[in-house]
Amino acid sequence: MERLDKIISACGAASRREVKTLVKQGRVRVDGVLAAAADMKVEENTAVITLDGVALQYSKFCYVLLHKPAGVLSATEDRHQKTVLDLLPEVYRKRGLAPVGRLDKDTEGLLLLTDDGELTHRLLSPKYHVDKVYYARVEGTPDEADRAAFAAGIPLSDFTCLPAELTLLGRGECLVTVREGKFHQVKRMLGERGKPVTYLKRLSMGPLHLEESLSTGQWRLLEKQEVLALQKACGLACMTKE
Ligand code: URA
Repeated sequence: MERLDKIISACGAASRREVKTLVKQGRVRVDGVLAAAADMKVEENTAVITLDGVALQYSKFCYVLLHKPAGVLSATEDRHQKTVLDLLPEVYRKRGLAPVGRLDKDTEGLLLLTDDGELTHRLLSPKYHVDKVYYARVEGTPDEADRAAFAAGIPLSDFTCLPAELTLLGRGECLVTVREGKFHQVKRMLGERGKPVTYLKRLSMGPLHLEESLSTGQWRLLEKQEVLALQKACGLACMTKE
């Protein structure tokens, strides 16, 4: 059994404080009956909770896909600068959502935020081979020699990168696929090859892809199947048909 306000805020529908008001206004029902109090205990796995007649989906963890814009920090809070959490409703900060890895301030693209610690750990670990694909604009033209160097593993001053894939797109453009996520890694790899990055965008992380309809700065919750696919990609679940 779990408190009603906790369940509703976990669904991202309202903060716990707001639930109190919603209950007083008679807008929340549990199994068809008007909720008596925000702190009433409810069977979280079976109860049908509705807000204004719409059923809420409860899940233990929350997964948000954000199209990160440039100029925003991949952090949960910062005294002076805007963070990715500032782009989401307050309920998500209160829930403890955090970015899965970091994109540089000037990097755009797919950023997953969640409160699922185990999934976060696995998605970032090179051990589980979750590919991250980046589109890069660079100075110069990446060529076959660069492609071979990426495949062999680029040596940087402090470590040697794992083998990575470089897809040539012609003058000043390429795709980079990496399994690790060290600080400034893609920029450093291309910089090392004399192709400094002028623009970087993450397109995908494992089975998750940034769809064109999600504009810069927009976000959405992951579908259940997307969560399952992510879990499967890092050895946490078997895919089920629904
Ligand atoms: N590699 C980088 O250099 N920057 C990013 O933001 C992500 C990967």
